[in-house]
Amino acid sequence: MFCLFFLFFLNLISFQNINAMLLFRRCHSLTRLGPLNTQRHQVAPAVVSCAVRLCSSSSSSEDHRSHQHVHSVSWKHGLAGLLAGTGAVLAYGLHHHKAERADIGVQTIEKSSSLPVFSQEEVTKHRSLENGIWVTYKGGVYDITEFVAMHPGGDKILLAAGGALEPFWALYAVHNQEHVLEILSEYKVGELSLEDLKKQQAVKSSDPYSSDPERHPVLHINNLKPFNAEPPPEILSDSYITPSAFFFKRNHLPVPQVDPASYQLHVEGLPGGTLTLSLEDLKTRFPKHTITATLQCAGNRRSEMNKVKQVKGLNWGIAAISNATWSGALLRDVLLAAGYKPDVAQWARHVQFEGLDTDVTGTTYGASIPLNKAVSEEGDVLLAYQMNGEDIPPDHGFPVRVVVPGTVGARNVKWLGKIVVSADESSSHWQQNDYKGFSPGTDWDTVDFKSAPAIQELPIQSAITTPADSAEIDRSEETLTVKGYAWSGGGREVVRVDVSLDGGKTWQVAQLRSGDKGQAPEPSPPTGRAWAWKLWEITAPLPPDARELEIVCKAVDNSYNMQPDTVPPIWNLRGVLSNAWHRVTVKIREDESEE
Ligand code: MTE
Repeated sequence: MFCLFFLFFLNLISFQNINAMLLFRRCHSLTRLGPLNTQRHQVAPAVVSCAVRLCSSSSSSEDHRSHQHVHSVSWKHGLAGLLAGTGAVLAYGLHHHKAERADIGVQTIEKSSSLPVFSQEEVTKHRSLENGIWVTYKGGVYDITEFVAMHPGGDKILLAAGGALEPFWALYAVHNQEHVLEILSEYKVGELSLEDLKKQQAVKSSDPYSSDPERHPVLHINNLKPFNAEPPPEILSDSYITPSAFFFKRNHLPVPQVDPASYQLHVEGLPGGTLTLSLEDLKTRFPKHTITATLQCAGNRRSEMNKVKQVKGLNWGIAAISNATWSGALLRDVLLAAGYKPDVAQWARHVQFEGLDTDVTGTTYGASIPLNKAVSEEGDVLLAYQMNGEDIPPDHGFPVRVVVPGTVGARNVKWLGKIVVSADESSSHWQQNDYKGFSPGTDWDTVDFKSAPAIQELPIQSAITTPADSAEIDRSEETLTVKGYAWSGGGREVVRVDVSLDGGKTWQVAQLRSGDKGQAPEPSPPTGRAWAWKLWEITAPLPPDARELEIVCKAVDNSYNMQPDTVPPIWNLRGVLSNAWHRVTVKIREDESEE
């Protein structure tokens, strides 16, 4: 969680804000430097003078006091060195230390260092706000006490106190970025002793992602660790059922290794006490139910929001959405077996899910859905053990995941370990502080995550999968075929897709299909249970005089919900629910012999 919050925090702030924050921290730490720092450790002159320089533009009296204090620290340092008569020896010692560090291949994030050397024992003493919070990273010692105070994730960061950051950063590999290191470097106070450094190196942190499954190379990777990837858009419209290898993958943590033979699912919170089921129980004690359902990540098409104004999150294109068949036991049946009765609804409102994927603190991925969706005979919520007719692949939740059709991907918890019927929503970060929508006028300095409901049903969506944006079309082809997908949340059926070749001035109605060409379409779903997308297609003559076409699509569902025409009115700081009319521009290449 430490890293999640650290990450979250880093995600919150733009580069500009990072710089502002660095400056703030530098100045802020100076104003608080006084007794705190002198008590805790000696600050090396180099660090101090840098801080003074950065704050020198400020004329506040506090800064002035700090300035004086800083000088007194430098002066004390100098005097101490002189008194001991060890200046030259110290310099040699530091040089020697550096050379040895280079010998063992240690790259600290600061190239040259005249900072004091600390033993691991000394570092470990700094595990509280009173004594200071120190951490080590690649042989450097960092006093992050000031950062803790600014950390929106609160005291989770204390988990790293007194120890090495590497195991945390191995889990959240995205930390290995220059700006993260830059922030950390601001807190450097010393070097770890060679002896302890060697010990640390001996206990190399293993990569928690090393057992992640192999993935198909065609996927566009948005983030490698944790793995997040989407297929090329044209693959989506080539197949009504997305092959599992191409189905978009959205993981927040390493893929857990679950032994199907010892797998257990715990169902808690009902009057009958805890019900524990094996995989075999799920397969044999409950009728097998199969649905075709589309999953879409809340961040699908986020990249279009980024073009309006930078948002925080993975830069998904239009393919964080896919369609599969899912088979398993109905959640409703399992809840009934665990003692659910209608009177439970008098106190319970939510069904919480916990995944078996954990972060370094043991915190699991979690989410919840409304109880009425979970127990409704028409909700079709599945505890799925098959995807596209086979065991669910590791990336998609092997051996069991929840499939909550019509509901945002985030609530479709993979590697399901626990179900809890509760009066409360999941307390998980992803339910409380993420996957919520806000006004375009709300930004990170004003956002109150408690003020918005967690996203459940998703709005109407459609996108053009082919042609690709900026594609060139030969005039000699005379016609143009446009393809795409359309889907709406909450079981609302897509009833129409309009396509324009002139930026939205004129429109034509596309052909919808609920199956692959040449095969019987899926039977029409009962009202309110249209869980699967529709693929659509239109072939139109190329407009004779046009050199460029702006192709636009928009879908309509059976509640006559339509997509908004542009992104700015729906822009939100997390870049979720991005469902404006989708637009691609293509060039028409004239036949040169005719020109
Ligand atoms: N469940 C667990 N346990 N861990 C996760 O990281 N990611 C969620 C959801 N369920 C997630 C999870 C999100 S945000 C999405 S969009 C979907 O899984 C993605 O499912 P997929 O990877 O099968 O496409």
